[in-house]
Amino acid sequence: MAKARKNGLYSGISEELSALMRTGWADTERHDLKASEQAPYAADRRAALSARFPGERLVIPSGNLKVRSNDDTYPFRPYTGYVHMSGDQARDGAIVLEPRTDGGHDAYCYQLPRDSRDSDEFWSGYTAELWMGRRRSLAESELVLGLPCRDVRTAAADLAAATGVPTRIVRGVDPALEAAVTTDPERDAELEEALSDLRVIKDAWELGEMRKAVDSTVRGFTDVVGELSRAVASSERWIEGTFFRRARLEGNAVGYGSICAAGEHATVMHWQDNDGPVRPGELLLLDAGVETHTLYTADVTRTLPINGTFTPVQRKVYDAVYEAQEAGFAAVKPGARYRDFHEASQRYLAAKLVEWGVIEGPAERAYELALQRRFTMAGTGHMLGLDVHDCAHARQEEYVDAVLEPGMVLTVEPGLYFQPDDLTVPEEWRGIGVRIEDDLVVTDDGHENLSAGLPRSADDVEAWMARFAG
Ligand code: GLY
Ligand code: MN
Ligand code: MN
Repeated sequence: MAKARKNGLYSGISEELSALMRTGWADTERHDLKASEQAPYAADRRAALSARFPGERLVIPSGNLKVRSNDDTYPFRPYTGYVHMSGDQARDGAIVLEPRTDGGHDAYCYQLPRDSRDSDEFWSGYTAELWMGRRRSLAESELVLGLPCRDVRTAAADLAAATGVPTRIVRGVDPALEAAVTTDPERDAELEEALSDLRVIKDAWELGEMRKAVDSTVRGFTDVVGELSRAVASSERWIEGTFFRRARLEGNAVGYGSICAAGEHATVMHWQDNDGPVRPGELLLLDAGVETHTLYTADVTRTLPINGTFTPVQRKVYDAVYEAQEAGFAAVKPGARYRDFHEASQRYLAAKLVEWGVIEGPAERAYELALQRRFTMAGTGHMLGLDVHDCAHARQEEYVDAVLEPGMVLTVEPGLYFQPDDLTVPEEWRGIGVRIEDDLVVTDDGHENLSAGLPRSADDVEAWMARFAG
């Protein structure tokens, strides 16, 4: 008898059961698989990474399942750099770039192969294939990824034995692989930085995925408008569930926790409890994005009058945010600095708050001192892609200090948030939060707003809601 699980209802596995389980299975190996559409793009990305680190071994793990409790695990999310360099989403994998003497690299991929049916492993543990679903065989992975694949169960020993080549690994992703190599943390951080740098400009395939993410997101927002009366009878949770259904139907999931913020919750930048009431007469700030099956995410915000019509005060705040976004949009074009759209939006908001007498002028002084931040707090946008805050580890000169180039995808998301207890603003403004967030790709001659399928101006929002409101 094999060892039983504590508090399990079976006391063990008999020899007879074990033998029974091992036999009678068809050969399900797939020989019809082809390289994924993404494979040639991933090869180009690896070539770009290779050029940065001649003579060095690079290890980019995908990560492992994380335990939630006992034998329950969180949904697996592969490390972003691994996805980008492989086009793969498998757990327990790693891309290795092995240096050649000519300065280039040979790439291969470690993968967790299928469980052998010659032992109980394929059915008796909670991470076994019969419990969690079929994996690919190594040969299948080679076909799909267009890369030589090796068994990850020998990876730590292989890497530990392969001394004499300077090695870098992305830290914090796979503890066992990290323990197997001797590397320098600072040089490892440069690898992570390079992986972020290389995502700043999206390739043609990635731009197609971003379009899918945004298009699904547009449908998810329209779903929410159609469900608003049910949300009024229920809570913000109804809105979260409505958007989530679209995300799961058309994509992998949501790309980040949806912010479904009605009434004064709209002033909480990262409101995710989503458990409050949805009241006619108040605003709903919905910040949500569908993540594609390939893990690219949209990040869109609309602020909607729950009963379909803005009050004069709501409209006044909304129009200011809209104009701030227009000012930001005008600065998104090749050759502009990355910071320009942020500065244009913030300058507009600072001037508006001075005009309203909420902060002290003159406007340029208020802007220089960033006094508007009391009411707008965050930066006006960020890079977007596989991560919602994509390229976060990129070198500053490749990101915030960069000049915009075609293929960059970023959000422009100004907002104004008047806290419910802010005594410096008129009482009727308190508890109003407005953000408008769109996803833009820089083109050869300006930008394209990928999320233009959703209305932005107050009039267009009202007309759209009148058409779709349920
Ligand atoms: N949803 C997070 C953000 O807008 O950055
Ligand atoms: Mn957002
Ligand atoms: Mn955003």
